[in-house]
Amino acid sequence: MASRYHEVYQSWQKDPLAFWAEAAKAVDWIKPPQKVFDPDMGVYGRWFPDGTLNTCYNALDRHVKNGCGEQAALIYDSPVTGMKRTYTYAQLLAEVNAVASVLKDFGVTKGDRVLAYMPMIPEAVIGVLACARIGAIHSVVFGGFASKELATRINDSEPKVILTASCGVEPNRVVKYKPLLDEAIDMAAVKPEKVLLLQRPQEKAAMIGGRDFDWGDLVVAALAERRTVEPVEMAATDPLYILYTSGTTGIPKGVVRDNGGHAVAMCWTMKYLYDIKPGEVFWAASDVGWVVGHSYIIYAQLLHGATTVVYEGKPVGTPDAGAFWRMIEEYKISALFTAPTAFRAVRKEDPNAEHVKKYNLKSFRTLFLAGERADPETVAWAEQVLNVPVIDHWWQTETAWGIAGNPIGLGMLPVKRGSPTVAMPGYDVRIVDEASHEVGVNKMGSIVVKLPLPPGCLPTLWQQDERMKEGYLTEFPGFYKTSDAGFVDEDGYLYVMGRTDDIINVAGHRLSTGGMEEVLASHPDVAECAVIGVKDELKGEQPCGFVVLKSGVSRSPMDIEKELVKLVRDRIGPVAAFKIAITVNRLPKTRSGKILRGTMKKIADHDPWTMPATIDDPSIMDEIMAALQSKGF
Ligand code: COA
Ligand code: AMP
Repeated sequence: MASRYHEVYQSWQKDPLAFWAEAAKAVDWIKPPQKVFDPDMGVYGRWFPDGTLNTCYNALDRHVKNGCGEQAALIYDSPVTGMKRTYTYAQLLAEVNAVASVLKDFGVTKGDRVLAYMPMIPEAVIGVLACARIGAIHSVVFGGFASKELATRINDSEPKVILTASCGVEPNRVVKYKPLLDEAIDMAAVKPEKVLLLQRPQEKAAMIGGRDFDWGDLVVAALAERRTVEPVEMAATDPLYILYTSGTTGIPKGVVRDNGGHAVAMCWTMKYLYDIKPGEVFWAASDVGWVVGHSYIIYAQLLHGATTVVYEGKPVGTPDAGAFWRMIEEYKISALFTAPTAFRAVRKEDPNAEHVKKYNLKSFRTLFLAGERADPETVAWAEQVLNVPVIDHWWQTETAWGIAGNPIGLGMLPVKRGSPTVAMPGYDVRIVDEASHEVGVNKMGSIVVKLPLPPGCLPTLWQQDERMKEGYLTEFPGFYKTSDAGFVDEDGYLYVMGRTDDIINVAGHRLSTGGMEEVLASHPDVAECAVIGVKDELKGEQPCGFVVLKSGVSRSPMDIEKELVKLVRDRIGPVAAFKIAITVNRLPKTRSGKILRGTMKKIADHDPWTMPATIDDPSIMDEIMAALQSKGF
């Protein structure tokens, strides 16, 4: 079928308000919006300013009311614990009502924050939907973050209640959440009133009297009593959640998502970007702690009446590289969405795709990739072994959905490997130079999006309008700065090549090198440091820290390097995957004292490099090369 993309994109360009008014019909509003966009509200305008709705109602109640109560809403599959369970829409609604009742009993009301520090279990989705039901603003923190990161998020979001479980289960270990949470609460200046904890069979957590409550006792009782809570009427512009993401410093940014624009955007993408019909199974193999998990594990499928999947396992090793294919066959999955790194992991274990041959993948139509650039080699391999379209799409925590993609529901455009295809309706994407002038076709520049951003994108940062303006809207006036660099080719295809700031991408996870530098610099023996992302075959990039020790430090550099690796793991968490610290005598700097991280990265990556004209002492580069060689680079 010929793609309707160009026609639809032009219709959005011609009349964006009519476009989004039409899209908004997919949502059940309490008060349908009379106004589509108010340019004078908020930092750059707000969507559906006079509409009201409840997101949880849209995700659950309306499907039950429409006779789909017995349809599968959520599939839980956990190869690490051997558990499997499918929840129907009616069952999921009952569970959400039960948790919402408990939260209400705890005194949680509209606008209160509830933090969720949860592994990949159905209760993570249930807890979050319960918040949406009563108008509480949820903030999910990824389980791979350690206490200090958790404490920072507690301080910023000031949650009344924290939802958690006794542990997460990684293939090689049980991760005890409760000691991490207790330490984080100790560190935090703001204390939650209550903690609702799910005891898992793998680990029994110690409870603190008066503060900690057992999910099993309270929620199970509420479920047995069939307690219900009316969904609370929310303004479309009220926050639904805060999701923290790495910024350029150690203080993460609290990305705010609203209720109305988010619901509209999620519904639009299910139909037109992913081509999923209500009743079909769409699996995002990510984690509820990331934006992909928020949009495509928790919300979009349910808003659209499709089936979502909570998978507690890995692409390889749980038990083997056939895990994706086993899932697709078992649950008749129509589309899978994951990060390229997961496919690189599968390919490494099973280069000839022997596992694929063992499964019936008849239901499978499309593979979607995002989270990092989909390298052409991985895309080609996936296309060949799966024989389905492999669609890269580009987005950010800030946007909640694809800025660029190949909208399968509008008819697929030809795939160009290495490109996430074209801008989605809602996004006017430009490539500009430092003076905000558009550069020509095939020329690299900063990728920016003309304001306003479409529904679903962040209206602001949590209680930080100024940081929102400074971080995203000031450098290129009238545009949103994505902090990604790339180019557009002669067919209008976008290529996203890398970040313009100090964010690196490790296994599809977004990490701040600035944040890691803060941790290294806090070590008593470290005088100064620089962290760069070095190319890695599997994870895309891996962090590598260079440290200069204080004069007079006589301890073995190897011991200090080990301590530094442990320090980053303890402070930021295992997800930082920080395994390499290298002691050097000096760091290469410009004459004005700026560390030449870009050149260091090129050397470590074995990319061509030239000696920067501004370098203070060129001989330091030889020392850096020698240090890298000594570590096997
Ligand atoms: N709780 C606690 N620890 C966690 C965790 C969690 N939820 N998730 C990951 N970790 C730990 C891992 O156990 C690992 O610890 P280790 O250093 O002791 O081995 C560390 O964090 C790094 O994790 P990760 O980078 O995910 O590596 P991995 O070796 O566990 O798995 C891949 C490698 C490629 C299979 C995996 O990264 C993957 O599937 N990535 C998909 C990326 C993704 O979903 N991105 C989201 C955007 S779509
Ligand atoms: P996150 O906010 O964690 O989703 O990370 C967003 C960042 O990941 C983007 O700014 C990009 O740098 C990178 N990214 C995500 N998807 C893609 C993609 N398809 N192609 C290239 N880079 C991507």
